[in-house]
Amino acid sequence: MRGYLMIIFLSSVFLYYLLYTILWGTNGYWLLPGGMKKKNIKTCPEKPAFTSLLRVPQFYPFLCSSDFAKMTSTYRTNKYFLPYGIKGSAKYFELALSKLSSCDVFDEFDDVPCKRCVVVGNGGVLKNKTLGEKIDSYDVIIRMNKGPVLGHEEDVGRRTTFRLFYPESVFSDPTHNDPNTTAVLIVFKPHDVKWLWQVMSGHRINTNSFWKKPALNLIYKQYQIRILDPYIIREAAYHLLHFPQVFPRNEKPQHPTTGIIAITLAFHICSEVHLAGFKYNTQDPHSLLHYYGNATMSLMSKNAYHNLTAEQLFLNSIIEKNMVINLTQD
Ligand SMILES: *[C@@H]1O[C@H](CO)[C@@H](O)[C@H](O)[C@H]1NC(C)=O
Ligand SMILES: *[C@@H]1O[C@H](CO)[C@@H](O)[C@H](O)[C@H]1NC(C)=O
Ligand SMILES: *[C@@H]1O[C@H](CO)[C@@H](O)[C@H](O)[C@H]1NC(C)=O
Ligand SMILES: *[C@@H]1O[C@H](CO)[C@@H](O)[C@H](O)[C@H]1NC(C)=O
Ligand SMILES: *[C@@H]1O[C@H](CO)[C@@H](O)[C@H](O)[C@H]1NC(C)=O
Repeated sequence: MRGYLMIIFLSSVFLYYLLYTILWGTNGYWLLPGGMKKKNIKTCPEKPAFTSLLRVPQFYPFLCSSDFAKMTSTYRTNKYFLPYGIKGSAKYFELALSKLSSCDVFDEFDDVPCKRCVVVGNGGVLKNKTLGEKIDSYDVIIRMNKGPVLGHEEDVGRRTTFRLFYPESVFSDPTHNDPNTTAVLIVFKPHDVKWLWQVMSGHRINTNSFWKKPALNLIYKQYQIRILDPYIIREAAYHLLHFPQVFPRNEKPQHPTTGIIAITLAFHICSEVHLAGFKYNTQDPHSLLHYYGNATMSLMSKNAYHNLTAEQLFLNSIIEKNMVINLTQD
């Protein structure tokens, strides 16, 4: 009798496991729920100059499936709508997380506790400054969107530790993939995280809800992908840029640019942060917008979604207080 019960018990466990892996399309062996173990970031003994700006300096910046519910409730991320929280979209976050294999920030052999980081903006100021070698000398190099390395090595360097992206801004040409890069999704709207789940499970992508055609394929491998915790974007908007939490009915709400989000991420994982390529030359509509391509400033001038004035004030203040260093200084 006991033997029978044991067999029934074991086979139901096995069936559950089998169904789980089939339903979630994972190779269940190492992707069981909770299998995404989080390794805490080594803390630097000296407090960085910008620590005073942050509410939670030790905040872990990427979402992990193993403690998703706990983290989003602890930091009240479940009380805010996107891009500042997961309210109303938790299901899609969970689906997308089930497709990832890691939420690590640094790889397991990395034991540098005090990291020197550079955040590389895509500004035209980088052109002809030959900062490439200098940029490559940092421990961590954060880039964003479609700012290419290929063909611009002299000006922007070769290495990329993190690349922040969203569906409308991600490379779709595989020659741009560097296997040493971790690609970090910034979720602005529910469709962004739904898109990640769909593109990683080979589902058809509905392109209707995007302001520009999103990528239909992902050039990054599963091990390279992370999802930025919306808490980071909330901290950038309310804490660093001091955006109002409620906008008047006739005004569009404003959100931080990828550049400011990248700096906020750097504040949580680095002990020194330097900036390159952060400049909007709004005075001259003919100046180059990016260090690549031909787009000029005139394309950017009126952007209701962002508040470039607030961002410039913030950048000026952190540069003035020596919390960060501007590498593209003349
Ligand atoms: C960069 O240098 C190239 C070649 O010397 C020149 O043609 C181009 O105008 C320069 N661009 C900028 C933005 O300085
Ligand atoms: C990736 O990292 C390895 C080990 O540090 C290095 O040998 C290799 O050159 C890097 N690849 C690229 C494309 O940077
Ligand atoms: C830049 O403009 C030139 C001439 O107008 C064009 O031939 C070239 O393809 C453009 N380059 C990019 C990257 O758009
Ligand atoms: C942008 O931010 C600045 C500085 O915080 C503020 O004075 C201004 O009203 C904001 N602009 C808009 C359109 O909200
Ligand atoms: C960095 O310095 C350059 C040159 O002085 C300046 O044009 C640019 O606006 C500065 N960047 C920021 C973010 O203030």
